[in-house]
Amino acid sequence: MTTPSEFHDRMLSLGLARVAEQAALASASMIGRGDEKAADQAAVNAMRTQLNLLDIAGVVVIGEGERDEAPMLYIGEEVGTGNGPGVDIALDPLEGTTLTAKDMPNALTVIAMGPRGSMLHAPDVYMEKVAIGPGYPEGLITLDMPPATRVSALATEKGCAPSDITVCILERPRHEAMIAEVRSTGAAIRLITDGDVAGVMHCADSATTGIDMYMGSGGAPEGVLAAAALKCMGGQMEGRLLFRNDDERARAEKAGISDLQKVYSRDEMVTQDVIFAATGVTGGTLLPGIRREPGWLTTETLLMRSKTGSVRRVQYRTPVSGN
Ligand code: FBP
Repeated sequence: MTTPSEFHDRMLSLGLARVAEQAALASASMIGRGDEKAADQAAVNAMRTQLNLLDIAGVVVIGEGERDEAPMLYIGEEVGTGNGPGVDIALDPLEGTTLTAKDMPNALTVIAMGPRGSMLHAPDVYMEKVAIGPGYPEGLITLDMPPATRVSALATEKGCAPSDITVCILERPRHEAMIAEVRSTGAAIRLITDGDVAGVMHCADSATTGIDMYMGSGGAPEGVLAAAALKCMGGQMEGRLLFRNDDERARAEKAGISDLQKVYSRDEMVTQDVIFAATGVTGGTLLPGIRREPGWLTTETLLMRSKTGSVRRVQYRTPVSGN
């Protein structure tokens, strides 16, 4: 077995694209069928099968849940053939299970891989997040700023009015005060019903997506995946774990986190270079969804390496029964 320093991300990234593709293809027949669980299960099974074909000694650090609650791709599960570099893997086989079940935009399959110890072992709790795209001074926007201050700081730096800023926020009752405060600045809000990995990623390409900033709380595992994406695409992000009870605090401590109030920067969530792949399941602003023609399925995968900042878009057309 090789060591983490021999993580050959160039070749592995191509394998990672196949993993994301297969998870998406497996969920294709579940798009718009109203069954979140079945859609997720199909993606999980396919992602795990494909991951186990890779020559890696992989450990899932962000996965489907704790060992006792997830039979597959649980946190700590070893994946890959074992013949290859030791790597950490963060994954969400279907980010946006409800989006998929309802055939709504921006459902993705997502996976990131890096050397051992490269990603925060975030427990399955909520995380408060804020993100902006590349090209801004470090620390321009922080979690400690009130939402309105974030908008005005970004507008000033961009040389535009707050009304020219669009903020992406998950539509949840817990965000009502934040939404009202952002609206009071004149900024526009793109409310999303699910899928904040995509929400954060949208900030990195605001010319295409029209989104300048993401804020609000969502899953902590999704926070680490979003940080991995932004490490490849450029952009800043901060995250702070949120705990609702002692059980959640215990999960964090079990994951080795002692400072429960810590604000994590993007590079504290993802400390080394990683590779990242996401395949569109339902059509969105960053990625088209799976295209169906009689007898064929076509996917598009965004494949990125943080070391070089390289971005590939891999289009894959396959007979329906093929792989
Ligand atoms: P699933 O794909 O697991 O359903 O998660 C979707 C999602 O919207 C994430 O993108 C987000 O981080 C989280 O759920 C928000 O959690 P909640 O629905 O509890 O507000």
